[in-house]
Amino acid sequence: MAFPHLSEVLKILDGALRSNASMSTNYAGLLADKLEQEGDREIAMRIRERLTRAPTAVAHTQDTTGMIGGLPVDSESRLDTLDISTPQKGSVNLCLQSGTTKRINEFLQCVKHYDRLHSARAATPLRLLLYGAPGTGKTQSARWIASELGLPLLTARCDTLVSSLLGQTSKNLRRIFDYVEQRPCVLFLDEFDALASARGNERDIGELQRVVITLLQNIDALSDNTILLAASNHEKLLDPAVWRRFPFQLPLPLPDAALRLELWKSMLGSYAPDTLDWNALAAKSTGAAGALIEQVSQDAKRQAVLNGQAEVDDGELFRRLSLSLALAQGHSPASLSDEIVWLRQWDAKIFSLRELARLYNVSTRQINHFVREEHGNAGKPTRKRITQDH
Ligand SMILES: Nc1ncnc2c1ncn2[C@@H]1O[C@H](COP(=O)(O)OP(=O)(O)OP(=O)(O)O)[C@@H](O)[C@H]1O
Ligand SMILES: [Mg+2]
Repeated sequence: MAFPHLSEVLKILDGALRSNASMSTNYAGLLADKLEQEGDREIAMRIRERLTRAPTAVAHTQDTTGMIGGLPVDSESRLDTLDISTPQKGSVNLCLQSGTTKRINEFLQCVKHYDRLHSARAATPLRLLLYGAPGTGKTQSARWIASELGLPLLTARCDTLVSSLLGQTSKNLRRIFDYVEQRPCVLFLDEFDALASARGNERDIGELQRVVITLLQNIDALSDNTILLAASNHEKLLDPAVWRRFPFQLPLPLPDAALRLELWKSMLGSYAPDTLDWNALAAKSTGAAGALIEQVSQDAKRQAVLNGQAEVDDGELFRRLSLSLALAQGHSPASLSDEIVWLRQWDAKIFSLRELARLYNVSTRQINHFVREEHGNAGKPTRKRITQDH
């Protein structure tokens, strides 16, 4: 039969054997929380009562070199290399495709029932690699996982770690991994490729390879039940040896039409007007990541609030979406006439001459003038031709 809470008991023991009181107290606190949740209030109280007797210095008993307020820092720049947050359950908004949600839930089940799985010899190290295009929700997923588990999220800033201090990185890595072993938490290596790409940076390949090796050694030395998440938007740069260390791998694709619809609804909330054509919005935002949908919604909502309106303006929402997509695709309509030309080309039905005149608060004659001018310039290479005219 599985011994309940074996993981926590063993961590408390590890802390005691290593004379690391903070590790023991951290895990005793977690054990008390779990017992309380399961209805064993009496035992939880007895554990907590014991904890109140611990000397106050316990929180910072570990080696203080390279630590500020107990947090590991980069020894030269003194920048924090770990960022601690405690996202609350229910406070992190995450919309994912059903297949992706299912896989995240499977991971959560493995975390929650680790001891049972371990007794059945069916446990696998709790390491999840999230990968996908920028803005698809990798960091948000890490926050959501920590919030669901009720654990602090310790985010390692991989760019700070590598930065100009390649010579120091191995030491910094060791500090981070030591630190997380001592407390119940989720370690999140964000922008992971900054650390894990052996080939990407030509500055000092030997040094980077050494960093990769140290990283792998540190991951290997972690207890299997330490929760490790990593995120990358350059998965092709990741070393194959890194992939093998992550039994759970989760691609986060760009949202499909159904998910875009869900994202729009959740981001606009009560600011969505009744007249809004949701299907057109979902269709016209093909290729947009969650981050872009969030940014466009926020911008439109901000404008509505500042104008004293209770809802966003449909046309304004489409206008902002179109211009954001233009930027994301590397176009940057600079002048008013460039914007108008872009919008007409993007969708001349949504952006009729009259609608453009309303949005830009100019006469339809003026809009017509911009559009005609564009036609006049059709042969010039600097501007795009308008293909439709309504
Ligand atoms: N699937 C999603 N559900 C809810 N919000 C999302 C989603 N995708 C993106 N967002 C929103 O977009 C913003 C950026 O998302 P996030 O930081 O998670 O992207 P990322 O994949 O980590 O991007 P990067 O690769 O640039 O780090 C967040 O503030 C989040 O609210
Ligand atoms: Mg991110």
